[in-house]
Amino acid sequence: AEERLRDKFGRAITDLRISVTDRCNYRCVYCRTGNEGALYTELPISDYVRMIGLFVSLGVEKVRLTGGEPLLRAGLVEMVEELSRMRTAFLPDGTRTSAWGGPEDAPEGLPLDLALTTNGHLLEGLAEPLKRAGLNRVTVSMDAVDAETFARITRVPRSYEKVLAGVRAAQAAGLGPVKVNCVLLRGFNDGQIEAFAEFSRREGVIVRFIEFMPLEEDRTWKPETVVTMDEIVARLKALRPLRDLAPNAASETARRFTFDDGMGEIGIIAPVSRPFCGHCSRVRLTSDGKIRTCLFSQSDHDLHGRMQRGGTDDELAAYIRQVVMRKEARHHIGEAGFEQPSRSMVHIGG
Ligand code: GTP
Ligand code: 5AD
Ligand code: SF4
Repeated sequence: AEERLRDKFGRAITDLRISVTDRCNYRCVYCRTGNEGALYTELPISDYVRMIGLFVSLGVEKVRLTGGEPLLRAGLVEMVEELSRMRTAFLPDGTRTSAWGGPEDAPEGLPLDLALTTNGHLLEGLAEPLKRAGLNRVTVSMDAVDAETFARITRVPRSYEKVLAGVRAAQAAGLGPVKVNCVLLRGFNDGQIEAFAEFSRREGVIVRFIEFMPLEEDRTWKPETVVTMDEIVARLKALRPLRDLAPNAASETARRFTFDDGMGEIGIIAPVSRPFCGHCSRVRLTSDGKIRTCLFSQSDHDLHGRMQRGGTDDELAAYIRQVVMRKEARHHIGEAGFEQPSRSMVHIGG
């Protein structure tokens, strides 16, 4: 039987992140400078579903829907419903399952792990429908836990209230524990670390601090702007004794912590000070249907174009294998000669 999708370093690719639109209703300061002159690209939902199915047939088990802002995408709930009917092509022990070319009597695959990353602005009304459609988990981006700083970052008034209501609705709908992602920018929101810890304890959400990476549209990234994992840990320890939590998986991006009383969960994602590329299991699909094998790829690979020119499933699967084989070893942030990719986070999807 056919092997799982792997790159030339032997990393199994089990995790697909797909941007379903590059529109966004926020203009976060570290992400984008404005929507002026942008050329938006969205493909029909059925095209995304077919491309995802190809990746799943090759061994992808986790699908994360991103953007832009994915909740702006018409047909998203129906898309989740379709994806919730897909089954994995392999069992954890490596057996190929029946639906994807295993023998007739092979066992059926498992449901996919379906997750969504959103800014949360429209989540209050969509949490229930998304859960009913089969979504498992949501991650909400929140870069402050006070209304004023929040609105200064998103540049949308009253955004904090909307997002908080969204987080609570997602928790109530059973899409939790919700993960809250916070990108820390020195001098901007690093004063909020302690308040975020309190927020995690109070709301029962997992707060993840992310080191800022050079991916913004206006290229303001400087090493000094990055608040490192060591600094964050020191700040948290000063608040309360901290306990390590075991990783959920080898490819997990976050180091996990809780406090001495077991209340609250903090993850720290440190792509800059402690790169995790060696265990990377991810590939990305842009909203215009191009494969990106790394957040920092200098080029992408036009899967959708090949599909439109009449590529068969077998041809497209072979193309995916060939592209993934050439996945980059790692990023080179902070090294001499580092070049920022030409497509920013809005296009790549985080
Ligand atoms: P789960 O772990 O499945 O819950 O996914 P998640 O999206 O909630 O978290 P994940 O760790 O996948 O992504 C959170 C953040 O980590 C992203 O927004 C990025 O900032 C960063 N990140 C994720 N994947 C990568 C990657 O492949 N490379 C780098 N450098 N950073 C990444
Ligand atoms: N560095 C790190 N994380 C980023 N995100 C957006 N831009 C960056 C960056 N330059 C995060 C957002 C969101 C996810 C999609 O990616 O905060 O949580
Ligand atoms: Fe939009 Fe997310 Fe970028 Fe903010 S970080 S502008 S919410 S895509």
